[in-house]
Amino acid sequence: MTILVAVVLAYAGVELGFVQANADARPGFLERWLARTSLQATLARQSRNLTNPLPDDSQTLLAGIKIYGENCAFCHGDARGRPTFAGFGLYQHAPALGGHGVEDDPDGETYWKVTHGIRLTGMPSFGRTLSDTERWQVTTFLKHMDALPPVAERAWKQLSVRSVPSSLLPKRAPLR
Ligand code: HEC
Repeated sequence: MTILVAVVLAYAGVELGFVQANADARPGFLERWLARTSLQATLARQSRNLTNPLPDDSQTLLAGIKIYGENCAFCHGDARGRPTFAGFGLYQHAPALGGHGVEDDPDGETYWKVTHGIRLTGMPSFGRTLSDTERWQVTTFLKHMDALPPVAERAWKQLSVRSVPSSLLPKRAPLR
């Protein structure tokens, strides 16, 4: 009986609009826990054996920056590391990778995320749109974003996306 009541209440809650559908609220604890925990567990199973076949030379890095500019900067921002309009408005927020990057993550993990996307967040999968090589190129760029050779550093600094004014940003909590 208790279980039946719980199921009916949950169903009624969704049908009556008590489970929020808007993206401009802070995600609830359960949603954040589910998104993060399932991501960590999936990565541990699926990304461990992925190794980057490309050299981290200027040619690869420049190609990665171009792909980033065309496909990622809209959400993840430019070298200034400021949230973009889309990244800020997303639920969960898209990290401004120029400020808080993923250089410490293994290449395989980043490649997996770019290929498959991240469920319960706005991170799209690029597995069917970018080629294997293109996904490794952008992964290589993200891995070396904080220590680029001069020619790549120049290209990265030239990329520019409109970002959110500081007055809209939370004062202390990091944007995540
Ligand atoms: C439509 C917006 C959007 C676009 C376009 C997008 N992303 Fe994301 N991305 C997100 C969001 C949102 C997250 C945060 C997911 C989370 O909270 O776990 C994310 C997370 C990531 C992460 C993990 C960051 C971390 O701190 O662990 C990487 C790496 C990443 N994206 C790379 C890319 C690359 C490379 C591209 C382009 C090929 C791209 N993203 C395009 C929205 C986007």
